[in-house]
Amino acid sequence: MSSSQEINNTRFNAEAQEWDSNIKHVESTAKAVEAIKRYVPGFKAGTNKDLNILELGCGTGLLSFALAPSVHSLLGIDTADGMLHAFDTKLSDHPKNTASPPNLSAINHYLTTPDVPEVQAAATKLHNAPPSTPKLRFDVIVSHLTLHHIASLSDMLRTLHACLKPGGCVALTDYEDFGAGAIPFHPVSKRAGVERHGIRRQEMEELLVATGFGGVRVEEAFVLRKEVEAEDGMPVRELDFPFLMCFGVRD
Ligand SMILES: C[S@@+](CC[C@H](N)C(=O)[O-])C[C@H]1O[C@@H](n2cnc3c(N)ncnc32)[C@H](O)[C@@H]1O
Repeated sequence: MSSSQEINNTRFNAEAQEWDSNIKHVESTAKAVEAIKRYVPGFKAGTNKDLNILELGCGTGLLSFALAPSVHSLLGIDTADGMLHAFDTKLSDHPKNTASPPNLSAINHYLTTPDVPEVQAAATKLHNAPPSTPKLRFDVIVSHLTLHHIASLSDMLRTLHACLKPGGCVALTDYEDFGAGAIPFHPVSKRAGVERHGIRRQEMEELLVATGFGGVRVEEAFVLRKEVEAEDGMPVRELDFPFLMCFGVRD
């Protein structure tokens, strides 16, 4: 594990308990859900209840629990135990008196291939697939506010491409690196494990195309206005942060 991954895990383990009470986390997730529903064809076609979703960096499950009721299943993947503990605590509140088990779960895993037993076992349960089904793949991969923590975007996009069924798509949201103005998104104390200050529009487009995705669109999906700390002689102030949707289809 890289040192910035360890810094991230320590940071998110410490923040997990308070994560959902930050109204900006809740607001940006609600905007991401709305954007995902706008971009992913299954939602437009009304076939969303057939979709098996993989979520990279699910954290406490803000996005996962918002999407799960509209889809067939959602498997979250994260690397911070604290965030996953918060996810599982919410899962344990699932009504015990319903006949159907919850259609989502999350595992602690550093994803490099879909073919590892951890991913396949969790997906087999959620997809209701017979245990002998070889190499389960996903219809959609989502991710919110996670790409800026990923060391190699090209490696990760290759992995995500391999996790999709043919015709499946990625719909990944994160804040945009539009230059120095994006740096205050994180307070100084939280910048250590950040691999990049947001994602770049052109870079993401080029990486998605180079990975082999078709129908690539990298576009501003919404804006989050939030307070940033005083720094370099600038006072505490509110700034607008554009968020990009990175969309592509596995042909
Ligand atoms: C900023 S948080 C966002 C969490 C959640 N998506 C949300 O919006 O509330 C980033 C999450 O990505 C996770 N993460 C960082 N690197 C990861 C990796 N390589 N694989 C999976 N998750 C990762 C962190 O543990 C953390 O939970």
